[in-house]
Amino acid sequence: MMAAKRLFLINGPNLNMLGKREPGTYGNASLADVVKLVKDTAWEYGYEVEEFQSNHEGDLVDQLHKADMQAAGVIMNPAAYTHTSIALRDAVSAISLPVVEVHISNIHAREPFRHQSMLAPVSQGQIVGFGIDGYRLAALAIIKKIESEGRHEK
Ligand code: DQA
Repeated sequence: MMAAKRLFLINGPNLNMLGKREPGTYGNASLADVVKLVKDTAWEYGYEVEEFQSNHEGDLVDQLHKADMQAAGVIMNPAAYTHTSIALRDAVSAISLPVVEVHISNIHAREPFRHQSMLAPVSQGQIVGFGIDGYRLAALAIIKKIESEGRHEK
């Protein structure tokens, strides 16, 4: 099935606090800044973005299922659920879209419990450690992937 030129941007728990939350680790930009960055990047290539943030695991699962019907690809920062959620991993496996995992901080340079991602093995790829610029890089990467596979409507 051909998907519309639409990306889903999904952010997990505590990312609604971006800008106020541990700025030494996550920077001063807000979630609204992240959404604008992704929308502006996607727009350059004619893609629209539907954005969603939740602090609840099941709601994130539901949004991945919704993406499967409505989008051509997903940019996702699963936040702390990255390290714990088999449900999110199974949701990524269940859908037929490329998912790029983003982390603002370099999770591999932090506490050992952050080194493992449940989602990485079933994601298209992972971008970590570039601050919120990682979201822009993820948008560029996923659009290139979608276009190269002809997944989008002309
Ligand atoms: C994060 C890294 C996670 O370990 C953490 O739980 C977050 C944010 C990041 O973007 O760097 O909430 O996903």
